Amino acid sequence: MAEPLLRTDGLRKSFGALHAVNGVSLAFDKGIVHAVIGPNGAGKSTLLNLLSGELTPSAGRITFAGRDITGLTPDRIARLGIGRSYQKTNVFPSFTCFENVRLAAQARLPSSMRFVGAADALSEVNEQAERALMACGLSGRRNAVASSVSYGEQRQLEIGMLLATQPSLLLLDEPLAGTGHEESRRVIELLQRLAGGHTIILIEHDMDAVFAVAGQLTVMVNGEVLETGTVEAVRRSRAVQDAYLGGGATP
Ligand SMILES: Nc1ncnc2c1ncn2[C@@H]1O[C@H](COP(=O)(O)OP(=O)(O)O)[C@@H](O)[C@H]1O
Ligand SMILES: [Mg+2]
Repeated sequence: MAEPLLRTDGLRKSFGALHAVNGVSLAFDKGIVHAVIGPNGAGKSTLLNLLSGELTPSAGRITFAGRDITGLTPDRIARLGIGRSYQKTNVFPSFTCFENVRLAAQARLPSSMRFVGAADALSEVNEQAERALMACGLSGRRNAVASSVSYGEQRQLEIGMLLATQPSLLLLDEPLAGTGHEESRRVIELLQRLAGGHTIILIEHDMDAVFAVAGQLTVMVNGEVLETGTVEAVRRSRAVQDAYLGGGATP
């Protein structure tokens, strides 16, 4: 069995007396979309914030690509190849879609390229930005100002900005939040396309999206892992049906 790309061991984050993440040990395999579900307040976003370095763990360890990354800064972690999106949209509204994606590509340029061979670096950044724009399905909106595209397209753009940084692991926090039916269908299609070649940790409430996209599934409740495994196995588990799916899920 190959080493997982990312592993947490006894990960904990406490806010005062509240253990938002409480002893979470999980393995995330390379090339797999691993969804994390659970009721509001379960600790899903806190878990992502720990993985991206925005929060420092109270206890436990995070191992990425065989390396202990516990306590590293968000910038270091991003440079090691972990990219994340936020629950709230963070595009630059007055810039075009292409400019947004290019800014993201530029921000992740290796520091050696920032000074040497400016022309080469620029064309590399532009190519990366074009690829990311195509990958997120927004080539047709290339020169549209971000504030003028639909909310769903802004969510696609966020994913494009993430792809432009070429992460080996993508952390997505509710990419469907706030999207309408048609928009969410397009974002799900985008996630399905990404699922082929990317390792993704996906927090998502929409169970149709989870079942359409994910291979592995973890259910969190009260900061702890209730169940983890293949989507099929977790979906069938008694504990999950009782506690979370309310017995309504069909196997
Ligand atoms: N910065 C913080 N300070 C204090 N409590 C927090 C903070 N962030 C999250 N929490 C609490 O931790 C728990 C888990 O929150 P969160 O990770 O956002 O859950 P989820 O994303 O699953 O809805 C909640 O009870 C929330 O109120
Ligand atoms: Mg959340």
